[in-house]
Amino acid sequence: MVQRLTCADIISTMSRRGKFITFEGLDGTGKSTQLRKLAAALRAAGHKVVETREPGGTATGEKIRRVLLDSATRGLSPLAEMALMFASRAQHIAEVIQPALDQGQIILCDRFTDSTEAYQGGGRKLGSEDVLTLHRVLCGNLQPDLTILLDSDLAMSVGRARRRNQLANDRSDKNATKRIDENRFEQQNRAFFARVRDGYLAIAAREPQRVVTVDASGTPTQTHRRIMEVVGRKLKTGAKNG
Ligand code: TYD
Repeated sequence: MVQRLTCADIISTMSRRGKFITFEGLDGTGKSTQLRKLAAALRAAGHKVVETREPGGTATGEKIRRVLLDSATRGLSPLAEMALMFASRAQHIAEVIQPALDQGQIILCDRFTDSTEAYQGGGRKLGSEDVLTLHRVLCGNLQPDLTILLDSDLAMSVGRARRRNQLANDRSDKNATKRIDENRFEQQNRAFFARVRDGYLAIAAREPQRVVTVDASGTPTQTHRRIMEVVGRKLKTGAKNG
């Protein structure tokens, strides 16, 4: 077992030429906005950038996402939820992330395995150990080069996520064929999100070389500036020559 995992680690490190950057944080911390802003800045500096997300990021993954996030999905067990997150991720790595890394691109991914550790491991109380084991078995232990953890006040971010989804629901109610419902997680209680946040902070404390916590309580422009500073420092991604 140990032998096999070590090989997977080595292969994943050897075959990587691009950069893999993940965004993490509670719902409503502004991850998607910040990811888009960073992508635009990196492209302006001449880099090839792939923007993607989890759960999702592939046709199969987006189907899995619908099952996971639709509040009409009732009674999903925590273990089934974790398995579906990893099914989406394994497909995402095979179809999108690893090929883009092999081509030397920068991949910006909205959520990755830290989300599973924080939400299923912490929020659903499944613990970190099984999440990390599944990550080794199903994801070849692929590690991001940098993880930006957006942190802001619990009530503020969860309130923002709920308002955003309510708006999306109001809009889609007017056009029932395009109904978007991604509320299943936002319906969790405050204690759940407190466990998720604690999970994130524990990961950041355990892996300070990979995970940088960025204060997301200011304006989007302020947060973007902080992220640019972190990315420049950590990855030394200046404008490309030629
Ligand atoms: P996302 O679309 O990023 O939500 P938001 O924009 O509100 O932050 O993610 C969807 C939800 O899926 C989010 O509530 C967190 C949850 N999730 C998990 O519980 N485990 C996971 O492994 C992932 C990737 C997401």
